[in-house]
Amino acid sequence: MMAIVVVAMGSFVGLAGWRSRILTDTQEISKSRRDHRILAPWMFFFLAAGYTGGVLSLVMQEQEIFSSPHFWTGSAVLILLSANALLALGFGQEKSPARSLHAYLGSLALCLLFLHAVLGLKLGLAI
Ligand code: HEM
Ligand code: HEM
Repeated sequence: MMAIVVVAMGSFVGLAGWRSRILTDTQEISKSRRDHRILAPWMFFFLAAGYTGGVLSLVMQEQEIFSSPHFWTGSAVLILLSANALLALGFGQEKSPARSLHAYLGSLALCLLFLHAVLGLKLGLAI
C-alpha cells in the first residue's frame, strides 16, 4: 500500500509540481498547480498515516520499534516534507528563492523515499 502511495502519488505530485514550474502555457501551468496543490497535502497525510501504522504494526508483533534504518529514513522524509509544506505557505512572488528551495527539497524527499522503500522491504524480510 505504501509503495503505491510512494510510486503512483509521489511521481504524480512531483511531476505536477515541476510541470507548473517549467511549462510556458498558462492554462497548463494553472492545471498542474491545481493538481499539485490538491494532491501534495493528501500524499503527506498518507505518508504520515503509514508512518504511524508502521510503528503500530511493529508494536502489535512485539518487535523492537524506532531502531531500524527504515524508521530513520521515514522520519527524515516527514521532516523534509513538513518543511516543504511550511515553505509553500509563504511562497511570495514568481521565481522566489522559497519556490526554488521547495522544488529541490521536495525532489530530494522523493529520492529518499525510494531508498526508504528498499529499507522497508529489508525490514519486512527480517521479521
Ligand atoms: C513531494 C515533493 C514535492 C515536490 C517535488 C514539489 C515541487 C513543487 C514545485 C516544482 C512547485 C512549483 C514552484 C514554482 O512555481 O516555482 C511547487 C509548488 C507548490 N507546492 Fe510543492 N512539491 C512537493 C511537495 C509539496 C507538499 C508536501 C506541499 C504541501 C503540503 C506542497 C505544496 C505546494 C504548493 C501550495 C505550491 C504552489 C502551487 C501554486 O502556486 O498554486 N508541495 N511544488
Ligand atoms: C514504500 C514501501 C514501504 C515498505 C515496503 C514498508 C515496509 C515496512 C515494514 C515491513 C515494516 C515493519 C512493520 C510490519 O511488518 O508491518 C514497516 C515499518 C515502518 N514503516 Fe514502512 N514501508 C514502506 C513505506 C513507508 C512509508 C512511506 C513510511 C512513512 C514515511 C513508513 C514508515 C514506517 C515506520 C515509521 C515504521 C516503523 C519502524 C520502526 O519503528 O523501526 N514506511 N514498514
